[in-house]
Amino acid sequence: MQLKGQVALVTGAARGIGLAIAKALAGQGATVVLTDIDAQEAQRQAQALGGRAFKLDVAEPQEVREVFAELKEALGRLDILVNNAGLTRDALLVRMRQEDWDLVLNVNLKGAFLCMQEAVKIMTRQRYGRIISISSVVAFMGNAGQANYCASKAGLLGLTKSVAREYASRGITVNAVAPGFIQTAMTEALPEQTRQAMLKSIPLGRFGSAEDVAQAVLFLALPQSGYITGQCIHVNGGMYM
Ligand code: NAI
Repeated sequence: MQLKGQVALVTGAARGIGLAIAKALAGQGATVVLTDIDAQEAQRQAQALGGRAFKLDVAEPQEVREVFAELKEALGRLDILVNNAGLTRDALLVRMRQEDWDLVLNVNLKGAFLCMQEAVKIMTRQRYGRIISISSVVAFMGNAGQANYCASKAGLLGLTKSVAREYASRGITVNAVAPGFIQTAMTEALPEQTRQAMLKSIPLGRFGSAEDVAQAVLFLALPQSGYITGQCIHVNGGMYM
């Protein structure tokens, strides 16, 4: 129970990697706050974990402000923020619609920025905090058909390092986790042929699980990981080294 007495907010926590992260943090005794655009599912999952749930579209500045204010009012503190909410709108460059570029950047990158802004206000006063953002292996490798997604995930790394430098003196660490191919609803949508081709590129010979990613996030969230900041942990079965 290494997170007893701590409060952790996870975005996009209704399913997939976000839900696995919320479970891992709750498993160490944290009070978890599950947020998602799917308020009903977030609520259902939060109940099972003895946590709280809020409807939160991370791309909506007003909603972000309100949820963090409510959280502070209800729980009085915030120790861990996990920026996990993310989506894809794939297309080759010339066919990519501007609204799909904007949506992916707004949710995946601006959403993390907005949540960090609110989180550090609370964490600075505590002089303690752990901020972890979910990037991707494609931030490092690029991926045809995902110019918007790769740009957003690479952007998260620059954001992470800058905020890590700004808040290190306040006891707040800021890190990223870059998953490879993880079996969730996001990757189930891919054609079987693509999945098989991806599998061949993974030295460990299997796709990752949401729990594989959650373990790396949990590690960075622990108090004893306090000398690690501005870093990115790869969880990809060796597909990128
Ligand atoms: P998922 O699609 O299963 O879950 C994403 C969750 O985010 C959903 O519950 C969805 O409702 C929520 N969401 C979507 N837009 C939102 C918004 N505007 N505000 C708040 N919540 C929103 O996806 P998965 O696979 O669990 O992905 C989680 C994170 O991990 C994402 O950031 C994704 O980019 C990243 N990732 C996933 C990989 C994979 O192979 N599945 C690989 C690398 C990174």
